[in-house]
Amino acid sequence: MNEISKIPKHVAVIMDGNGRWAKRQGLPRIKGHEEGVNRVEEITRIADKWGVRYLTLYAFSKENWKRPADEVGFLMGLLAQFLDTKLKIMLENNVIFKVIGESSDLPSIIQKKLDTWIEKTKSNTGLTLTIAFSYSSRFEIARACRQLAQKAVDGKVKPSEITEDVFAHELYTADLPDPDLLIRTSGEMRVSNFLLWQLSYAELYVTETLWPDFREAQFREALEEYTKRDRRFGLTESQTGVEA
Ligand code: FPP
Repeated sequence: MNEISKIPKHVAVIMDGNGRWAKRQGLPRIKGHEEGVNRVEEITRIADKWGVRYLTLYAFSKENWKRPADEVGFLMGLLAQFLDTKLKIMLENNVIFKVIGESSDLPSIIQKKLDTWIEKTKSNTGLTLTIAFSYSSRFEIARACRQLAQKAVDGKVKPSEITEDVFAHELYTADLPDPDLLIRTSGEMRVSNFLLWQLSYAELYVTETLWPDFREAQFREALEEYTKRDRRFGLTESQTGVEA
């Protein structure tokens, strides 16, 4: 097995393929989601063990509300169960919990549970686990524009002062560094409205593995691949000191 010589500080994951995983086993789709939740806890533990500092998981998009009502209901139930049962272990593991997305779209009982998690883990110093719920990157960008336009109207910012940094501070991810690595499971070659601004310089890694099958060995393969990438941020090889 190759050495992982370069650990990404921030890993983002599009957890895809739960439905296909269930179908292949002759199970209802919801069984795939159930198994998918188990991977969330496992991957958080492994990421922490390897020194990843930020892990951001795409759990539910704004578009996912259009899925059949029973599947949406089941996913909300799973989320509530996850929040009820996993807080203790998160606290024990020093994890800081954050949420991105329109949490006001979620049932109020879930919003309360999320607030409790955020509050109880905010003084922790370990890995930051951010979960995207009711998240849409285009919505996030439009929202940031609205907020800045309002600040301009209120005389709090001048249009000439709006830089990339100022803009980034209006995003849900204001206090997170940009992802270094984006992992997408289940083989689809797209970013599906996830972190469009923040992924500008991220390395992309797509695996055929379905999310419920994404375990330590598969995560390790992704990190090994990342280790081999030359990140140049628009510069030349000689400028970055990474010659081919
Ligand atoms: C994509 O699989 C997965 C989702 C839309 C939901 C992801 C959610 C979880 C892993 C569980 C919820 C997480 C927490 C933290 C409670 P898909 O249904 O699109 O699969 P398919 O493309 O094979 O149909």
